[in-house]
Amino acid sequence: MRILITGGAGFIGSNLVLHWLQHHPQDHIFNLDALTYAGNLLNLKEVEGNSNYHFLHADLRQTDVVKKIFIEHKIEGVLHLAAESHVDRSINGPAEFIETNILGTFHLLEAARAYWGNSPDPRFHHVSTDEVFGSLGPKGTFHEATPYAPNSPYSASKASSDHLVRAYHYTYGLNVVTTNCSNNYGPFQFPEKLIPLLIHNCLTERSLPIYGDGSNIRDWLYVEDHCRALDLIFHKGRTGECYNIGGSNEWRNLDVAHLICDLLDKELGRSGEASFRQLITFVKDRPGHDQRYAIDPQKMLRELKWSPDSDFQTGLLQTIRWYLNNQAWVEQVTSGSYREYYRQQYNL
Ligand code: NAD
Ligand code: TYD
Repeated sequence: MRILITGGAGFIGSNLVLHWLQHHPQDHIFNLDALTYAGNLLNLKEVEGNSNYHFLHADLRQTDVVKKIFIEHKIEGVLHLAAESHVDRSINGPAEFIETNILGTFHLLEAARAYWGNSPDPRFHHVSTDEVFGSLGPKGTFHEATPYAPNSPYSASKASSDHLVRAYHYTYGLNVVTTNCSNNYGPFQFPEKLIPLLIHNCLTERSLPIYGDGSNIRDWLYVEDHCRALDLIFHKGRTGECYNIGGSNEWRNLDVAHLICDLLDKELGRSGEASFRQLITFVKDRPGHDQRYAIDPQKMLRELKWSPDSDFQTGLLQTIRWYLNNQAWVEQVTSGSYREYYRQQYNL
């Protein structure tokens, strides 16, 4: 198959490209990415020479360019991940979230519809978040029929894109599937999200900012487990359906910070006064901070026999070791210095 992955240079996207080329070596992957601050071709260094991997530097907001890509590369399926993805950035500047997440998805849907016509076969897989469901109290979980109640500009823009995808199925018969996943962690995550930020700040002896009292809860999933779920749903999920993907792994933010500090203390032989826990600092809460996310995993288990493989301690230790061994990556992606090399290679 000739598959378009959007956002393939981002955190989940690059893990997915690597996963796909390993598990479906016969497929051709076209990675459409605008290379925003969050898109890093360094993540894909190991597949640069693979003749089945193709990088397309393009912005979803360029409607004609997106349409041409479908025609030129004879695209037979889409996994749509490109997005502005960080809640704090959406609070400080929502405009790009509206443009990329809503209008970008609209342009991609239009391009797919124009190229595929009424054919029921080619699949449009939209990758979304559990944040569209809003915030939970101490009890309950999000299931596929939970009403949408997004609270941040980020989640509202993703909710809007989910509705567009749904409408293209019901109105135009597009073969869509939507997945709503909980918080991911793992290699190649830009160090602005909680887990890589805490690891990076420990390694550079900076304070570890915990919003509010640290009691907010997230359901953490190792990124490779997410990729495995996406692979399964793309191939076997039922058309027009939504699937919630979760880690069954709820943690309070403060406990995540403690665990990271303890694992890193052990890795680097620190204790007592020198423990990384000393760096934890409570800071002003995020406006509109969702209290708790948790996914009901039943549909994935029942229909596709999927459940996460990684337990949190193991996945987190693996992630910590990856950041320890790849401090140059962090430096290069945060400073943008890696771009010079790719500027020539891809004529950026
Ligand atoms: P990310 O921010 O790491 O990567 C996003 C990618 O999209 C980057 O490579 C960026 O360059 C690209 N991009 C942004 N705007 C673009 C545009 N206009 N045109 C083309 N490319 C553009 O994001 P991520 O964490 O990998 O998330 C990927 C997807 O998964 C997103 O749709 C996100 O909403 C969803 N999701 C993420 C999580 C999570 O925990 N990270 C959880 C559930 C769902
Ligand atoms: P984040 O990784 O930004 O993901 P999301 O907001 O999409 O869930 O944040 C995860 C949780 O960690 C969230 O409750 C906000 C909190 N948080 C902090 O306490 N400090 C931080 O520096 C960051 C980035 C997040």
